[in-house]
Parts: sequence; structure tokens; C-alpha cells
Amino acid sequence: MSPQRCLLIAVLIVLVLPRNAAAQSANEFFQQNCTACHTIGGGRLVGPDLKEAVQHKDRAWLEHFIQDPEAVLNSGDPYALQLKKDANGIVMPKMPGLTPEMAKALLDMIEAKSNLPNSGATGVSISEPPFTPSDILTGTEIFLGKRKLSQGGPPCVSCHTLGSIGGFGGGRLGPDLTQVYKRLGGRKSLGAWLSAPATTTMQSVFRNHSLQKEEILPLLAVFENSSRQSQPANSSSQIRFFLAGFAGAVLGLALMGWIWRGRIRTVRRSLVTSAQRGAA
Ligand code: HEC
Ligand code: HEC
Repeated sequence: MSPQRCLLIAVLIVLVLPRNAAAQSANEFFQQNCTACHTIGGGRLVGPDLKEAVQHKDRAWLEHFIQDPEAVLNSGDPYALQLKKDANGIVMPKMPGLTPEMAKALLDMIEAKSNLPNSGATGVSISEPPFTPSDILTGTEIFLGKRKLSQGGPPCVSCHTLGSIGGFGGGRLGPDLTQVYKRLGGRKSLGAWLSAPATTTMQSVFRNHSLQKEEILPLLAVFENSSRQSQPANSSSQIRFFLAGFAGAVLGLALMGWIWRGRIRTVRRSLVTSAQRGAA
């Protein structure tokens, strides 16, 4: 990992920490950190349906697993290894802020909701009709930032490359997304993932600037289209992006500006008012 990448990730983690540390209800915690990959009684997404989880495994095991999935997998636990296999090899991330008390509260909530006819956590519904060429076009514009995200999130291309979008490759902070439609399990599963991203960087960027359904659908169309091409973003377009170092730096600054904009403005405002007060 390059030093710049480490720095940016560190900044993003610092930004997300205070909110995680705040007292939060299990319900709210679940909405923000778990619905990207799980339903309760709505079938599997990237991860298994949790209604089944509470039927199959005892409390102690589940509590341990959700607090440190990787440790359980590394211990060679056969049940966990089977779960990972069923999830296409994807490992559940360790969630910052998931204390032992929160783990208990989450499992209480999951158990209670598993007994309801409708848990209210059955996954987002992304409409079924096939993607159209116009969806792909709209999605490409969203990905590239030619069409602004309604909640003000930064364009995907500042951190991601995509094989079907050539030319100016895209940023390298995030992974290449050419095959992400397959990797994260297709329409329903990737749609849910995008509606509440729960990985470190994506969550800190989009938590307060969530992607809307009318934006997720065309993005899914783009990812479905690109997953049919076997090549990830070609390396020459990535090199071209690097050669445009200046543009990269500007983009980086713009991104930092975007992240810090509220704070800088407030700081400046108070500086200005105190200066005015001083002058009066
Ligand atoms: C990025 C996707 C992702 C997120 C976010 C996520 N999980 Fe998971 N979860 C998985 C996957 C994948 C598995 C299957 C095991 C593996 O491969 O790591 C899993 C497994 C589980 C299991 C065991 C399931 C079983 O059948 O025994 C539980 C319980 C669980 N997750 C709860 C949670 C809770 C609670 C949250 C939120 C705090 C959460 N998960 C967030 C992907 C995720
Ligand atoms: C500030 C940089 C940044 C921006 C902007 C960004 N991403 Fe990400 N994205 C990341 C990083 C870094 C990861 C790796 C996981 C993490 O740390 O969150 C990631 C992961 C992902 C993943 C999961 C990939 C995988 O294989 O597991 C998807 C899907 C994704 N991003 C979609 C998007 C979309 C769609 C947009 C635009 C709406 C977007 N991202 C904008 C940085 C970004």
C-alpha cells in the first residue's frame, strides 16, 4: 500500500470513528453495518440469511463469530469455512465499534425479528426488468461523475477503475470493479451492498451521502455489462492515469476538500467573526 493510500484511509477511519463510538441502538447499528450483506428472512445476499444463522448455531458461537470472523475462520472451524465457501470466498469484515454488548444486542434483535412474519430487514428491492442501454449510459455518467449523485457523494471514478470504461482509467484507492457484479453475487446482493456499504472506506464516504435507488439501478447495469467482459481495466489506461500525476493530485485535493468542506467552512467562519469582533 502506498503512503498516500495509507494516509487517506487513516483520515477516513478517523472521520468515521466518533460516530461509531456513540451509543447506538442495535437496530440502527444493524441498518448501517449489516444490511449491505445480510437479510433476516429475505434470503442470502453476500452473506447468509441471518434467520437461518440463529437456527443453526448457538449464541456463544455467533457472538464470537460476529466480533472476529477472520479469527474463527483461521481457527479452521469447519462450519465457518463452509459459510465462506458458500459466500464465494468473501470474508465478513470485522466491524469497528462492535463491542461484546453490541454483539449481544444484535443477536437478541436478530432472534426477535426471525420470529416475525416480516422482519423489516428483507433487503432492498431493486426492480426486476432487464437493464436497458439507457440504464448503462446513465450508470456510466454516474460512475464518471458527469451526472452528480443526488446526495452529494464523490464520483466512483475518483477511486475505482472499470474495464468497460476505457480512456482515463480511474483512481486506484479502491479495487477494480470490472467483475464486482459476479463477485458480490449479482443484482439483489450488489444492490443491497451499494445501498448501505459497510466496508471501511465506502462506509465513511457514503454513510451520509447514500446512493439512491434510481442511482443504484443504472450502476448495477454498468457493472453487469462490464462483468461480461473478461478483462479488468487495462494496464495502459491505468498507467495513463498515473502519468497524469498532476490531474491525480488535483483530484486528491478536491476529494480532501470535499471531505473536509463542512469543517473548514465552520473554522473559517469563526475566524472571520472573531476578526470582525476584534476590529470593532
Ligand atoms: C461485506 C459483507 C458483510 C457485512 C457488512 C456483514 N457480514 Fe456477516 N457475513 C458475511 C459473510 C460473507 C458471511 C459468511 C462467512 C464468511 O465468509 O466470512 C457472514 C456470516 C455471518 C454470520 C454467521 C452466519 C451463519 O449462518 O452462521 C453472522 C451471525 C453474521 N454474519 C452477522 C453479521 C452482522 C450482525 C453484521 C453487522 C454487524 C454483519 N454480519 C456484517 C458478510 C458480511
Ligand atoms: C474515496 C474513494 C472511493 C470512492 C469515491 C468510491 N469508492 Fe468504492 N471502494 C473504495 C475502497 C477503498 C474500497 C475497498 C473497501 C473499503 O475499504 O471500503 C471500495 C470498495 C467498493 C466495492 C466493493 C468491491 C469488492 O470487490 O469488494 C464496490 C462495489 C464499490 N466500492 C463501489 C463504488 C461505487 C459504485 C462508487 C461510486 C458511487 C464508489 N465505490 C466510490 C473507495 C471508494
